[in-house]
Amino acid sequence: MTTPLTDLARRLPGLRLLTDAGDLEHYGRDWTRRWTPAPLAIALPATIEEVQDIMRWANERHVAIVPSGGRTGLSGGAVAANGELVLSLARMNRVLGFDAVDRTLTVQPGIALEAVHTAAREHGLIYPVDFASRGSCSIGGNIATNAGGIRVIRYGNTREWIAGLKVVAGNGELLELNRGLVKNSSGYDFRHLLIGSEGTLGIVVEATLKLTNPPPSSQVMLLALPDLDALTQVFAAFRAKLSLQAFEFFTDVALKHVLANGAQRAIDGEHPYYVVTEFDAVDEASQERALEVFGHCVEKGWVSDGVVAQSEAQAAALWRLREGITESLVPYKPYKNDVSLRIGEVPAFLRVMPARLAQEYPQLEVVWYGHIGDGNLHINVLKPADMADADFIAQCERATKLLAATLKEHGGSISAEHGIGLVKRPYLESTRSVAEIALMRGVRKVFDPNGILNPGKVFVDA
Ligand code: MLT
Ligand code: ZN
Repeated sequence: MTTPLTDLARRLPGLRLLTDAGDLEHYGRDWTRRWTPAPLAIALPATIEEVQDIMRWANERHVAIVPSGGRTGLSGGAVAANGELVLSLARMNRVLGFDAVDRTLTVQPGIALEAVHTAAREHGLIYPVDFASRGSCSIGGNIATNAGGIRVIRYGNTREWIAGLKVVAGNGELLELNRGLVKNSSGYDFRHLLIGSEGTLGIVVEATLKLTNPPPSSQVMLLALPDLDALTQVFAAFRAKLSLQAFEFFTDVALKHVLANGAQRAIDGEHPYYVVTEFDAVDEASQERALEVFGHCVEKGWVSDGVVAQSEAQAAALWRLREGITESLVPYKPYKNDVSLRIGEVPAFLRVMPARLAQEYPQLEVVWYGHIGDGNLHINVLKPADMADADFIAQCERATKLLAATLKEHGGSISAEHGIGLVKRPYLESTRSVAEIALMRGVRKVFDPNGILNPGKVFVDA
């Protein structure tokens, strides 16, 4: 009797298949590191046709498929822990074309975000979505989670930059969604349904990305803040007078970790909150305007200290204080939360949530940082050295329940940009109604009638 895998190898003799223990381990997990990888095998197709053939085989043999990109996800969306076939897009990583008139770049899904940036720059343009894992994450994964990052305040999420998608649906059918059109008022826009669907509806096999002009020259400023209320005041003041490219926040606890990991202190003294902001600074007038806003914030008592980068190297050093946080926390096996609120609701949420967590879980160190200008907060809980993994996860899950309930009170979302995956699945109902989740299940049935694609991610099939 042929096993499903020998059948696949027989049907697709040219398909690269990996079954070594090391490969199963490597491709079976993402950055969550919580589940023990146990995939059936790893398939590395090189063409759209191979992806379609794999999907047809998977439907016939009832084998679950986990689509896989750079595996930098933080919600377990690319974990294969149940005998699934990992379908890695790593070999489909080329730029396919540039269109100067439409200003689009067509790429394969396995290309790294950083390579997209480079390709765009070669044409004097930019692809503006950006975040710290740019060198490892893939554009297909970015699309699957509608990734955000540090420039959303200026440019929006991945969704804004997708002009067209080719997608292999759960039944193996190839769909060409929007074909790069600027206007297309011809019924449902499935492109936007696919973006953020975390590999549960289809596999992105080609993407046409919009590009834009590089931003004008900018300045980077680090600000130290005395309290939380100052955060929204400073944001409002900076946004009113300057054209912001980024407005990011972190606490002294985050700073402690990033400094211990090699970043350089830029402001002396103890301050509870910090902001890194970048804004257009095209001429002396705009630089003076920035100093005026800064002075105004100092006068009001909203900012206790600040520094303006005087060179690119200094700007990079200031950015490292924010972008280096994730890496600095890795040794503490952080339990990650990624929440969003309407920007105006952030202060009210921050007035209650950190205190609630500190009161209920005094033994857990909680690191707050994030894209405050988008209402997006990252809440990382660090594992105490003497706490068993299982105990830590159990406590974090209880803490996340509290977080989800508090978010609900404030009209927020349990996932801003990392997706739901496996990690946030138990809390989906705190953000989406029962009716909405029922509709999601229904949509999945249409795209993937046999429930082959990424089962168990986002929600459990009915
Ligand atoms: C970031 O913005 O640095 C990441 O999305 C957050 C994280 O690693 O938790
Ligand atoms: Zn983030």
